[in-house]
Amino acid sequence: MKDDLNRAPLAEAVASYAAEKVTRFHMPGHKGGAGISKKALEILGRRLFELDITGVEGMDDLLQPTGVIREAQELLACAYGADASYFLINGTSSGLQALILGTCNPGDEIIVPRNMHKSMVSGVILSGARPVFVSPEVDPELGIALGVTREQVAAALDAHPAARAVFLINPTYYGTACNLGPIADLAHARGLPLLIDEAHGPHFYFHEALPPGALTQGADAVAQGAHKILCSLTQSSWLHVKGERIDRGRLQAVLAVLLSTSASYLLLMALDLARLQMVEEGHALLTRTIELAERLRRGVRRLPGLRTFGEEYVGRPGVDGLDPTKVTVSVKGLGLTGQQVELYLRYRHRIQVELSDLYNVLFIVGPGNTEEDVDHLLRALGELVREQAGKKPRAELPPALPPQPRQLLTPREAFFAPAESVPLAQARGRISTETVTCYPPGIPILCPGEEVTPEIIEHIELMKRNGYRIQGPQDGGLTRLRVVKE
Ligand SMILES: Cc1ncc(COP(=O)(O)O)c(C=O)c1O
Repeated sequence: MKDDLNRAPLAEAVASYAAEKVTRFHMPGHKGGAGISKKALEILGRRLFELDITGVEGMDDLLQPTGVIREAQELLACAYGADASYFLINGTSSGLQALILGTCNPGDEIIVPRNMHKSMVSGVILSGARPVFVSPEVDPELGIALGVTREQVAAALDAHPAARAVFLINPTYYGTACNLGPIADLAHARGLPLLIDEAHGPHFYFHEALPPGALTQGADAVAQGAHKILCSLTQSSWLHVKGERIDRGRLQAVLAVLLSTSASYLLLMALDLARLQMVEEGHALLTRTIELAERLRRGVRRLPGLRTFGEEYVGRPGVDGLDPTKVTVSVKGLGLTGQQVELYLRYRHRIQVELSDLYNVLFIVGPGNTEEDVDHLLRALGELVREQAGKKPRAELPPALPPQPRQLLTPREAFFAPAESVPLAQARGRISTETVTCYPPGIPILCPGEEVTPEIIEHIELMKRNGYRIQGPQDGGLTRLRVVKE
């Protein structure tokens, strides 16, 4: 198996099918690109369509793999030290949902971080599970959510001895990681699996300067975004399982429910090739990427008014490690918001950040970046700093979150209950059917099934007045909220 790691069996099989010039009487309708419009040819090129096939003879079936897809998945498992791996063509989202549906029945409790990704909320709705929330630590200066601690998970497990699984995020979007080993021991001592949303950590397994991957710290299953940090195509992800705590038969059945029956072979090929790239050159690519990110971090630290955090953060509650390839820059000292800096960089310098919030911009440095990219960015930031010289820094810190409200229904019960949209002020005492999250810190103040308290309404009004981005509700301006009909 180890020798085969230097092959990409699935990508090679699709490429040979395209090379065979088969007369195609199968989907998709473009027949290898012969039927596409001039515009499609001009914009997308022919090659993409030649490789865009479906599960024809010899190309296996993602939902019941026995051939090349199975072989490619076995190589993936081998590369990650997993016992089984699965390709995902509906993003990491589908992996997180599969893990919840694979471990929880309706009414089962599951320990989750309060800032779980919205696809996990969907997983909770689909499964009917009851979330037990653990609140992540929040950095007081940057306003960003960090990891959760062993003590918090222990307290949740003590209070909810019937919980079926512990599901955490590691690393965070901003690249902070926590020590999962002791949390895995806690879960395992109670016979529970530790599941990890490792969307932002598929590279951890290929370089010693990165925090250890969750599978090496005792996690039973992880979902990773191969398209986020590695060089796969957007929407392609994968899922790994280790040990016997996860029922793999059930997981496979769940994946067959969640995934498309027409898997994109372009995405599958990209996954196979991304795994091959990491096996063959992952270490060298990451060494370079880490050096580039450090160059950026050093340059930012020389610019007055900007702040970026690094190794000195390790040791704070919820931070036991750091992904150096993520560079978070606090722009409060310039008297600007992160969103303003994002627009400045995009339209003045043709630089696009990964994300921005009220205080920060986040840069993800990847294998595709160069020294020129970093220097271009540093010059742009330098120009901005000079333009902003003498401006008053923004001093405010994110207001403390209101107390977590009572959960009166499960998210699934709230989702399916008859609902109505009411003015926010009239939502007091009602049950929300929506999630409401302000950025920063990206921790929901309301989840479906929770009671809308006066403190929550007051907090939302305050956040709106102060220009925080609010996500989740159908009414983006949040003048109204969808609540369960009385
Ligand atoms: C922490 C986290 N988990 C899960 C996801 C979902 O991943 P995908 O977009 O691949 O479905 C994201 C997306 O950004 C994420 O940030």
